[in-house]
Amino acid sequence: MTIYFDSPVADDVRRQRVYRGDVFVFSPRPSTLALAGFAQQLIEEAFSPLAPEQAQHTLEVGRFVEIVAPLKPRFIHHPTTRKLLLELLEDIGLDRDKTYFDVPRMRVATSDDYLNAGVAYVLHPHRDIWYGSPPCQLNWWIPVYPFESESSFAFHQRYWDEPVPNTSDEYNHYEWNRVGRASSARQVTSDTRKQPHATAPLELEPDMRVVCPPGGLLLFSGAHLHSTVPNTSGRTRFSIDFRTAHFDDLAAGGGAPAIDRHCTGTTLFELQRLRDSAPVPEEVIRLYDPNPPVDREGLVFKPPAGAGAGM
Ligand SMILES: [Fe+2]
Repeated sequence: MTIYFDSPVADDVRRQRVYRGDVFVFSPRPSTLALAGFAQQLIEEAFSPLAPEQAQHTLEVGRFVEIVAPLKPRFIHHPTTRKLLLELLEDIGLDRDKTYFDVPRMRVATSDDYLNAGVAYVLHPHRDIWYGSPPCQLNWWIPVYPFESESSFAFHQRYWDEPVPNTSDEYNHYEWNRVGRASSARQVTSDTRKQPHATAPLELEPDMRVVCPPGGLLLFSGAHLHSTVPNTSGRTRFSIDFRTAHFDDLAAGGGAPAIDRHCTGTTLFELQRLRDSAPVPEEVIRLYDPNPPVDREGLVFKPPAGAGAGM
């Protein structure tokens, strides 16, 4: 596994390396700083007059949830978020005609077990592809504020090519969309959503973490086993992530090895083409779900919502 810093390679080469488990890290640049800065603005408006990273120390946890629950969809669906994301995707060299992307998410990881459910769920070790993502999914992650190893997320690289017994066979993506997302804001003390998880003890260390400045950008495969590090930094960590997939890889069934993925349904309904917001073609969706949900109009296209498997 290699970590590339500010690598100038073209997207086609970059993707092939990501599918081998390599990670790409980019220094903050105007397009990433603009998106992170806009997130920061919305976060600070929502928590005003408190400092967002410290607010957990003075807010009652129910009040914290009341602030974060509407903040996340406000960021996800804001027209400025969309504009800045499109500019970022082009800036990092993605092909407008072949790249499909999903709306960006905002993640909130509180410190010292203040909140570990619903809007601030701490992700146990997982692969995103256990949640209905295609093996060619690329994950992109940007921190909004400075953070530390103690408030980062970890790659468990031993499992890149080693299968992990897991419950992804119980995960159906459409069921998750119907039930899981709607209930997220109500989950305060524990999280009852049915998440795919490992069913055998894992060797989680040594792990690998990347710490970068605000507006830095991480790129890694959705097939990597990764988890949220229990935050002991004393500050709430805010981050943005989004995912992309390239048409050629989708159509060819390419991407990273899917060695222990047993879920049903697909996230491909949520992706849109960079150039014109067109959905993933039906024939491609059927490669990933031979029996996708249909109604009289044809395929049921679910508008992007905003949860999924974070970091
Ligand atoms: Fe994830």
